[in-house]
Amino acid sequence: MRRAPTISTDRPAELLGGLSPSQFMRRHWQKSPLFVRQALPNVRPPLTRAELFALSARGGVESRLVANDGSAWTLRHGPIARRALPPLRQPGWTLLVQAVDLHAAAAHDLLVRFRFIPAARLDDVMVSYASDRGGVGPHVDSYDVFLLQVAGRRRWRIGRTKDTTLREGVPLKILRHFAPEQEWLVDPGDLLYLPPGWAHDGIAVGGDCMTCSVGFRAPSRGEFSRELLGRLADEEAPESAALYRDARQPATTTPGEVPGALRDFAIDSIRRRLADADTVDRALGEVLTEPRPTIFFDPGEAIPPGSGVVLDHRSRMMYDSRHVYINGESFRAAGRDARLMHHLANALALDAAALAQLSAPARQLLDEWAEAGWVRAAVDGGKASARRQR
Ligand code: SIN
Ligand code: CO
Repeated sequence: MRRAPTISTDRPAELLGGLSPSQFMRRHWQKSPLFVRQALPNVRPPLTRAELFALSARGGVESRLVANDGSAWTLRHGPIARRALPPLRQPGWTLLVQAVDLHAAAAHDLLVRFRFIPAARLDDVMVSYASDRGGVGPHVDSYDVFLLQVAGRRRWRIGRTKDTTLREGVPLKILRHFAPEQEWLVDPGDLLYLPPGWAHDGIAVGGDCMTCSVGFRAPSRGEFSRELLGRLADEEAPESAALYRDARQPATTTPGEVPGALRDFAIDSIRRRLADADTVDRALGEVLTEPRPTIFFDPGEAIPPGSGVVLDHRSRMMYDSRHVYINGESFRAAGRDARLMHHLANALALDAAALAQLSAPARQLLDEWAEAGWVRAAVDGGKASARRQR
């Protein structure tokens, strides 16, 4: 099996200013900001200004146009036609486009550099374009975020949030009190990592400013449990047909009262669902790999013999000890098949020699995924996993 293009966790990385991914995770992840001058020297924007504008005009792509004329803020949600954008020379506006990694291969390639962090935490690459002095105002995000400057210049100011009150009468979440503690004037290639909750304000200096935000979502308990319980509710659980029985219910003078036994039955029913670890695992894996509702895969063909395979850049694939998950579906996997599938999920590719070791049912499954457009044949045997088509 070919070596995974995974990142060495103990080797100093230019991307992290000479820290190894392990040191970064210990010292900075979720703890403290890190600014790296020239983390990616010679970085190029993952798409042109015109391509970004075209993306923001498309339905199914989340985008926002934020403008500030010096006093008032305005916000418009996409799709935004090119002609609806302010002139490039007009100062104080910015266009923000979410999930650009799903549409531009180069933005996805950028994400691959951060695969020393579990993919389950990854959200997307947002790309912003700003005219001179454009920005979204001082705010906090509930994300771990890597802000990579890819064109033009921007002044970042950051500070701890002591007061989270928001400005009133503004269509954006802008902090009323922002006390910057550090600032940098950043150039293309510079990178700023911020843990959730750090206030930040980035203002374009000169026009043609492009910034990529690689965002790692920290799900809230409420959001997570809502999604998981929704999935669990849809599952046909064993014993779910069992009926509540109250053969001993005496005649009552308080018919409005909820019977204690019915309450116990309700709680026990929920507990039984949660006690089934396998069902909970599957719900979690399916939720984590569910594609965005606007993503459609292009159907493909079965993998020809002698070929390797790569994951489509829109596919989400993960695994746990008993299952493999891809694009919201779960499969049981064990033994060698499981090891090979884990490799595909980690390395995003599997070469022809590895593919040949799959059992017949696993090989057939891979063909079905190829037909669904989730994976595709790699002519060079799966060795060029990072190069993807648009
Ligand atoms: C921007 O790119 O203008 C904003 C990114 C952020 O603050 O999260
Ligand atoms: Co932010």
